[in-house]
Amino acid sequence: MSTDQQPRANSGVFRTKSVEQSIRDTEEPEHALKKSLSAWDLTVFGVGVIIGTGIFVLTGKVAKENAGPATALAFVAAGIVCALAALCYAEFASTVPVAGSAYTFAYASIGELPAWIIGWDLVLEFALGTAVVAVGWSGYVRSLMDNIDWHLPNALQGPDVVGGTFDILAFLLVLVLTVVLVLGMKLSARITAVVVAIKVTVVMIVIIAGLFFIVGDNYDPFIPPAVTPEGGGSNWDSPLVQLLFGYEPTNFGVMGIFTAASVVFFAFIGFDVVATAAEETKLPQRDMPRGILGSLFICTVLYVAVALVVTGMQHYTELSVSAPLADAFKAAGHPFYAGVISFGAAVGLTTVCLILLLGQTRVFFAMSRDGLLPRFFSVTHPRFKTPYRPTILLGVIIAIVAGFTSINELATLVNIGTLFAFVMVAVGVMVLRKTRPDLHRAFRTPWVPVLPCLSIAASFWLMLNLPGETWFRFAVWMVIGIVVYFLYGRGHSRLGREGREATY
Ligand code: ALA
Repeated sequence: MSTDQQPRANSGVFRTKSVEQSIRDTEEPEHALKKSLSAWDLTVFGVGVIIGTGIFVLTGKVAKENAGPATALAFVAAGIVCALAALCYAEFASTVPVAGSAYTFAYASIGELPAWIIGWDLVLEFALGTAVVAVGWSGYVRSLMDNIDWHLPNALQGPDVVGGTFDILAFLLVLVLTVVLVLGMKLSARITAVVVAIKVTVVMIVIIAGLFFIVGDNYDPFIPPAVTPEGGGSNWDSPLVQLLFGYEPTNFGVMGIFTAASVVFFAFIGFDVVATAAEETKLPQRDMPRGILGSLFICTVLYVAVALVVTGMQHYTELSVSAPLADAFKAAGHPFYAGVISFGAAVGLTTVCLILLLGQTRVFFAMSRDGLLPRFFSVTHPRFKTPYRPTILLGVIIAIVAGFTSINELATLVNIGTLFAFVMVAVGVMVLRKTRPDLHRAFRTPWVPVLPCLSIAASFWLMLNLPGETWFRFAVWMVIGIVVYFLYGRGHSRLGREGREATY
């Protein structure tokens, strides 16, 4: 039987939804999203979400604690992992052009339970990612406010500040962006385009102006020798690979580059979000791969350049942890550049937040349309054509999380979730090639199965370099997800119901 005649009368957790069925679902009028995005919109979208807290904030932290000037190599390593995954994502996105990203792809290839697991995982990635970036944004805005002697009371500066409890700015940002998304995709894409231009300009300023302040001695040694972290580093905040293999945990050295890569990986998150907008793209078969690969390439080049410039301007031991790019210019005696960079960072982080929030609501929307979450959430707004119900619900929850949460541990949790999704997508590409060789693929991943296997190995290697406690938290989240699936999703699944009807 051709899978074209799906749904199959199967009730197992590996039942798959046909690609044709996925596309048909998006054409039901009350569940349809507006098709308005071009390849250019997608690239802007990608760059808009990719460049953010990772380069503006995490660069300083990893250079100082894990890799020194070799942070540039960490960006190369993380970029390679993402490029491998992007080649898999691009094939899936151009074959299954519907909302939901890796979730939808997995539903069409591996089966319902793995798809649910990915969807649940992506909810974690995007929701916490939005919160992390909102808190980072708030920090830059406060630093700008300090320049003009405006100070928020400590209590409203967030839990990362001494005496702070609630981050009012991060909270308000997420609420405002929620309203923007409810009002419609095109509006947010336009705002995004302007903001992305400002952000890229600021990054270029860092690179070009910074070149003039590089001091060669700062690159010596380029890969600082390995040292044992304070307290021995044998606890759960050490990379899992070090705990597993029982060798003495270290910072810096060659292993430090991989630890740094597993953290700065956050800087690349977002190209996968481009895939979540497939359903709103005019010509997904052609534009999706262009949007994904184009935005990833641009960002990788910029990151490596920024990392080299910043660690060349200031010795890695002296880099600031909260605003390293701006502070490197202050240290070089150029506060004007520092102000411009802070402003651009604050503006730029707004789009990152917006697009992560968008990706998040689209995954939720797709899961609800399939009946794995209540269908109440998948009805689009009659006028704006946006999935306004999950947007509002999740927007409010994320705003509260952003208000009360410290960013440090959240970023690594976001990374492990994303890397896990990469593994599943690479598996999905191989499975779909076997089960549906007939499907039209506007973009084909080269060297299958070698390249997807390399992608799986590379993503898993970065996961192993994340702290043991991150693995523990991730496992807890996934166990909760599996329980929810068996208590709700499995019984309410639209595919499962249709399968049962077809059988009786
Ligand atoms: N890549 C995005 C950032 O760095 C999520 O903020």
